[in-house]
Amino acid sequence: MKTIAHLSDLHFGREDPSVVEGLVREMEAKRPSLVAVSGDLTQRARAGQFRAARSFLDRLPAPIVVVPGNHDIPLFNVLQRWLSPLGGYTRHINADPEPFFHDDALAVMGVNTARPGKWSEGRLSERQIERIRDRFGPIPERVFKVVVTHHPFIPVPGARAHALVERGFQALAAAEQSGVDLLLAGHVHMGSSGDVRPHYLSIRRSMLVAQAGTSTSHRHRGEPNTYNWIVVDPPHLSIDQRSWEGAAFETRAVTRYVKHDDEWIKD
Ligand SMILES: [Fe+2]
Ligand SMILES: [Fe+2]
Repeated sequence: MKTIAHLSDLHFGREDPSVVEGLVREMEAKRPSLVAVSGDLTQRARAGQFRAARSFLDRLPAPIVVVPGNHDIPLFNVLQRWLSPLGGYTRHINADPEPFFHDDALAVMGVNTARPGKWSEGRLSERQIERIRDRFGPIPERVFKVVVTHHPFIPVPGARAHALVERGFQALAAAEQSGVDLLLAGHVHMGSSGDVRPHYLSIRRSMLVAQAGTSTSHRHRGEPNTYNWIVVDPPHLSIDQRSWEGAAFETRAVTRYVKHDDEWIKD
């Protein structure tokens, strides 16, 4: 059994300090196998915001796979936005914006979808899609494979209309060929989960998506601060949406899936 704490949209610069402290306490108590952070660590990609995000990550007690979001690219500093969009991120957060974690039961790949010219929808390059095949392809099927991006691959129920990540279909085709089971994303600040197939009719492999809300910021979209506590125990998987209830994180909703005849179905 593996546990993943899926955090997202931290937005340091607009963070709530009491939620930040509560989340550190929660992680220390629950000790996940891995923490995944699906982007938007800062509000405006400023050095002080990156430093605050980095010191938060340094307090988490697990291996971390973190990717940038659109807010981690400068918006107003046009020169830096185009010449070195991820300069602040790679200086302060991680020199590698696409980290990869792999042990005997879990393989987790971060893919950077943040682009200076594709602020809200994001995109993947053909090289990144090739890397999904290269990294996951040789890993046996018994290892549970997870992709982490900032921008979502499927629409988030209840959210206002939003674009989906560019080249998402090609990336999902590569994920399908490589035996990926789960895709984690953020950006919309609302939590949900579901199968990719109703949204991409030529994808045959059942792959789950989990969206996390904003874990620590004031930038709510009608939901409290949340993160996903994901328990991977094949053929079972559960997503516990944990929400900030003023003094601690508590379970808001649990969605359970079981893989039956190669299909993830709600349990
Ligand atoms: Fe965000
Ligand atoms: Fe975002």
